Amino acid sequence: MWGGRFDEGPAAVMREINASIAFDKRLWRQDLAGSRAHIDMLEAQAIVSPEDAARIREGLDTIAQEFEERGVAEDPDLEDIHMHVEHRLAELIGPAAGRLHTARSRNDQVATDFRLWVREAIDAVDAALARFQSALVTRAAEHAETVMPGFTHLQSAQPVTLGHHLMAYYEMARRDRRRFADARARLNECPLGAAALAGTGFPIDREATAEALGFDGPSANSLDAVSDRDFALDYLFAATATALHLSRLAEEFVIWASQPFGFVALPDAYSTGSSIMPQKRNPDAAELVRGHAGRIAGALQALIVTMKGLPLAYAKDLQNDKPPVFEAHDMLGLSLAAMTGMVETVDFDAARMRAAAEAGHATATDLADWLVREAGLPFREAHHATGAAVRRADELGLSLAQLPIEELQAIDGRITDAVHGVLTVDASVASRDSYGGTAPGQVRARIAEARARLEAEGKA
Ligand code: ARG
Repeated sequence: MWGGRFDEGPAAVMREINASIAFDKRLWRQDLAGSRAHIDMLEAQAIVSPEDAARIREGLDTIAQEFEERGVAEDPDLEDIHMHVEHRLAELIGPAAGRLHTARSRNDQVATDFRLWVREAIDAVDAALARFQSALVTRAAEHAETVMPGFTHLQSAQPVTLGHHLMAYYEMARRDRRRFADARARLNECPLGAAALAGTGFPIDREATAEALGFDGPSANSLDAVSDRDFALDYLFAATATALHLSRLAEEFVIWASQPFGFVALPDAYSTGSSIMPQKRNPDAAELVRGHAGRIAGALQALIVTMKGLPLAYAKDLQNDKPPVFEAHDMLGLSLAAMTGMVETVDFDAARMRAAAEAGHATATDLADWLVREAGLPFREAHHATGAAVRRADELGLSLAQLPIEELQAIDGRITDAVHGVLTVDASVASRDSYGGTAPGQVRARIAEARARLEAEGKA
């Protein structure tokens, strides 16, 4: 390609370190779309003749068909996907192929291709996140009244409903989708026409190519257009935030599936057995989702460090932008599919959850609140009396709700029979009826809103 200036071919190691075809062949569809938009524009601007433009279009169609049927055959001498397409085009249509690269550089070409790819990736993740949300909403609706312990420090804190717990992840996914939408809106400027770095002397029409490729418009600075990859960083950060959320649910499934908890039986379809311990049923899919979050965060870090201190404009370091994004995207897709599948099919053990909520004295705060509200104690005193009640219940092996009234009155004479109305886990959950709280009525209202949103998007 640059034979005019060079006497010797590249060293073998140069060829190897320089080649990106092994991974950037994933951009072939975007590369052909960019070339189609470019040749249409060159023809409309009378930069390339209608005859040559027609030949180039036909050649590009043939290449699309070949890649579709047989994949991209890698030739290490041809460096990247852009050279593969150009070379094949020349084989198919002869010297006219050389006109396609008029008023263009691989620098604006790859910046355009990669933006198109990331844009499609965002749309795919958004659809997967919507499916994940639907699964959460469906299961939350089944369990709007299922009581389980709510935790802080992974210690039983206050009873909550399983529906409430699941809807927490719905909210996280909602913010994740907004992060991806923000990233998409910022990404959607077309670099094509920035050429190598400074623009071009040919009378191109950047509005036309931007529009043909579904961009909001052309990027306003050619140096920036070919050399920044913040759109990929935006994608990777949104992917990382999503992966972190998934990893938290994955971790909860791992904990809940352990025998001492027994809150869930993870479906066979997402578990594995042990080759040596026949009783084992390992939550591998959940563990891998937890693990993948580390690699996705690592991909973000890889690109951050790649971009640090890069002077304007293009430098070959930028070729390393794609592997982390591709890897993160693949792992995020698998993670979302696995978590959606698990949420849809996991078997919740409502009786175990309820028993755990009752065993953990999770209604202690309700007792303290009752002492404040009904018996007029200052909260600190109420807290102390409640602590004594918890200790007494432990001594007798009872839950707070089972503690006889005489025992409670021995701790504080102001306690009356009426207290039992707040000591059950159901009463506790029902009382937390503040907006966004765990009371079944609140949870149902949030579920209805979530369903309406998903329906409005056509995703319910
Ligand atoms: N394969 C290259 C990349 O992905 C394409 C751009 C090459 N540009 C250059 N000036 N060598 O970054």
